[in-house]
Amino acid sequence: MKKLAPSILSADFGRLAEQLAEIEEAGAHLVHVDVMDGHFVPNITIGPLVVEAVKKYTNLPLDVHLMIDNPGQYVQSFADAGASSITFHAEAVFDGAELVGEIKSTGTKVGIAINPDTSITVLNGLITDLDQVTIMSVHPGFGGQKFIETSRQKIFEARKLLEANDSLAQIEVDGGITTENAASVIEAGADILVAGAAVFGGAGPAANVKSFLEIL
Ligand code: DX5
Ligand code: ZN
Repeated sequence: MKKLAPSILSADFGRLAEQLAEIEEAGAHLVHVDVMDGHFVPNITIGPLVVEAVKKYTNLPLDVHLMIDNPGQYVQSFADAGASSITFHAEAVFDGAELVGEIKSTGTKVGIAINPDTSITVLNGLITDLDQVTIMSVHPGFGGQKFIETSRQKIFEARKLLEANDSLAQIEVDGGITTENAASVIEAGADILVAGAAVFGGAGPAANVKSFLEIL
């Protein structure tokens, strides 16, 4: 089965514990945590302190997505705060291989995310060490954006690259996922769907998670 990772970026932060319980109870698989620093992306969101708080209110693995400059500087803090996986952006580092090793040494899973304008070829030579590859299907920075349609081709290319390298890494797709496009994104090769607005908006987290699970 494919996995659903609700992004708490679109949650009601005043009722975060309650909403975490709702998505877990409804059957979500991971909690996606969007970390933004106001440099790599224009927005500022969550730091290790909030990750630590989230950890106390869920049994689900915390899928930490670092949209920050100098990600290596913060890896240990997020690992200590309870991250299960740490994903950094290929565009934010010079030496991806070194950082992959550093993240692994903390005992967490490791992923690399690539922006819509970044070629999948940046993953060459790194792919066999990764647990996760995140294909951004919006320009990172904000929740609730529209899915970029050309992302499907990129997901398909990522799937081919993983197969060519006998990699078991999971393909995560992040941005603009809805119950309308989820099936086609899975068909293109996604293993993990991140969804923020489509989980925490509309009918509410419990009902929305259930609708997604029927598609996965
Ligand atoms: C975008 C974030 C996404 C975002 C997804 O910068 O990385 O994880 O929260 O939210 P939706 O599903 O609303 O596009
Ligand atoms: Zn994200």
